[in-house]
Amino acid sequence: MNDSLSILPILKMVPLFKELNENDHMEIIQNVSLMYYPAGYKIFSEGDSAEALYIIKSGTVKVVRNFDNESEKEVAILGPYKFFGEMALFKNLPRSASVITESDVEVIVLKKEDFYSLIEKCPSIAGVLKEEFFAREALNH
Ligand code: CMP
Repeated sequence: MNDSLSILPILKMVPLFKELNENDHMEIIQNVSLMYYPAGYKIFSEGDSAEALYIIKSGTVKVVRNFDNESEKEVAILGPYKFFGEMALFKNLPRSASVITESDVEVIVLKKEDFYSLIEKCPSIAGVLKEEFFAREALNH
């Protein structure tokens, strides 16, 4: 579902897109979809292949990782305007963690190919993503 009227104000609030102008936002909207997940839903699992970047419109998710194939540990809770799913796309590797909804959640989903075109076109986005990516990666080691 592509509900541009409801997505545009959200894009304006997302720090990741703060350097972009309205034309850029309108272009992004052409390539995203809005998805709804109920509380307790696993959006993807650690080890899955990566197909998209997600930006939270409403609700919260928890990020859970396996350590030593034994214990699962919650490494983060992410809420509105935060993104997830960038790490596997950057590294072209499987998902580094599972992401599970804590409440009912609405997410803006940007498909892998559109993610790569966007960061090529807008280097400011690549910069913000990389900063967060390195911070998150450091936390996971
Ligand atoms: P990815 O590896 O594609 O899929 C799992 C996602 O969880 C990952 O991208 C990040 O977006 C997110 N993630 C992983 N580790 C952390 C962390 N320490 N803090 C916040 N988010 C994380």
